[in-house]
Amino acid sequence: MIAVYPGSFDPITLGHLDLIQRGSILFEKVIVAVLRNPNKQPLFAVEKRLEQIKETTKHLKNVEVDSFSGLTVEYAKIRQAGVLLRGLRVLSDFEQELQMAHTNKTLAAEVETVFLATATEHCFLSSSMVKEIARFGGNIDHLVPQSVARDIYLYYQEKSDQKRVN
Ligand code: PNS
Repeated sequence: MIAVYPGSFDPITLGHLDLIQRGSILFEKVIVAVLRNPNKQPLFAVEKRLEQIKETTKHLKNVEVDSFSGLTVEYAKIRQAGVLLRGLRVLSDFEQELQMAHTNKTLAAEVETVFLATATEHCFLSSSMVKEIARFGGNIDHLVPQSVARDIYLYYQEKSDQKRVN
């Protein structure tokens, strides 16, 4: 069975990576699918996020990284995936995730959503939290893969250099 793991991944965190790793054991193939969302102002462009995810999952041979636009279930059908993989961190995730799973089921009954509980050590972790910490100069080395941490530090360093020049 092929699973699609959809999301924004702006940026990929150690929580996401843990889920991809565990998903890759459970499924024949996991396609990490980055949503191209014109309504969001991301920190990293989709191409950069794809590069980051490819770099951090390169040791997982049955993991593919791709991007998509539009409905997730339509993408899943095109890729012949029977499962949408999502992580559940805390109770507050549950309501939105369940709503999304039910909605997706009405759109494509043949596509199942499978939830994995996020690893205990990452259940507080989100991409937005990572960005906020980094924006205020905090340490994010324990929250994201090393290469991604470097990209984020660089991004905020360049931003603060630009501010000083202007
Ligand atoms: O990482 P995120 O931002 O929590 O991921 C949310 C995502 C991309 C999985 C969700 O917004 C999504 O599937 N968007 C695509 C549009 C869609 O299919 N909408 C119907 C399901 S609610």
